Amino acid sequence: MNVLHIDCSPRTTSYSRQLSAAMVTRLISNHPGAQITRRDLGHEPVPHTDSDYATALSTADALASGLANGATQRSEQLIQELESAHALVIGTPMNNFTVPSTLKAWIDQIVRVGRTFAPSPNGEKIGLLQDRPVYIGIASGGFFTGEKAKQPDFLTPYLAAILGCVGIKKLQFLALQGTAFLDPSQLATQQGILLDTLRTGV
Ligand SMILES: Cc1cc2nc3c(=O)[nH]c(=O)nc-3n(C[C@H](O)[C@H](O)[C@H](O)COP(=O)(O)O)c2cc1C
Repeated sequence: MNVLHIDCSPRTTSYSRQLSAAMVTRLISNHPGAQITRRDLGHEPVPHTDSDYATALSTADALASGLANGATQRSEQLIQELESAHALVIGTPMNNFTVPSTLKAWIDQIVRVGRTFAPSPNGEKIGLLQDRPVYIGIASGGFFTGEKAKQPDFLTPYLAAILGCVGIKKLQFLALQGTAFLDPSQLATQQGILLDTLRTGV
C-alpha cells in the first residue's frame, strides 16, 4: 500500500504534524509494509497556479498546447503522486476558518478540468479519480464543533466538496481543537482519544 502523507503547518513543532504522524503510525501498524511518500507543503509549498496554467485550461486547444509546453507539468506531477497513493494522510491547521493557503495551492494544482474532473453538459463536475481513503488531522486554536464552538467551519465541508469533486469521497476527519486553550497533557489525551476513533481499513 502506498500512502501519501501531506503536512501543511509552517511550524516544525506543530499539533497537526504530530497528529498526522500518529495517524500514519496507526496506518502502518494495520498495514505493515506500507510505503510512505511525503509532501511537506508547510515547509516546501507548491507554487500557486500561474498565468500560463490558467491560459492552458481555458480551451481544449490551449490545454493541448499547455500540456506540450509544460504549463501543466507541475500539476501533472502532483496528480500522478496522488494517483499512486492508495490512501492519503493530511495534517492541517485551521487558518481563518478554513484550510491554509499552502493546502489550497496544492488543491489548485490537483483539481484540473479534463484531468481529475469533467464538466457534464448541465455544469456538474464529475470526478475522474478513483476513490481512496483520506485521513485528515486538523489542529485548531479554538473550537469549531461541539458546545464550545464559537466560529464557523469552512474547512471540513470545503475539503469534502473539493475532494469529492475529483472523485475522492472517503474522508475521515480527526480534529484536535483548542490548541490555544488546552495544556499539552490535555492535548495529548485528546489526541489519543481521537486516534482510537481512526478506522484504517483501505
Ligand atoms: C494565520 C492563522 C490563522 C488562524 N486561524 C484560526 C482560525 O480561524 N480558527 C482557529 O481555531 N484557530 C486559528 N489559528 C490557530 C491555529 O489553528 C492553531 O494554532 C493550530 O494549532 C495551528 O496548527 P499547528 O499546531 O499544526 O501549527 C490560526 C493561526 C494562524 C497562524
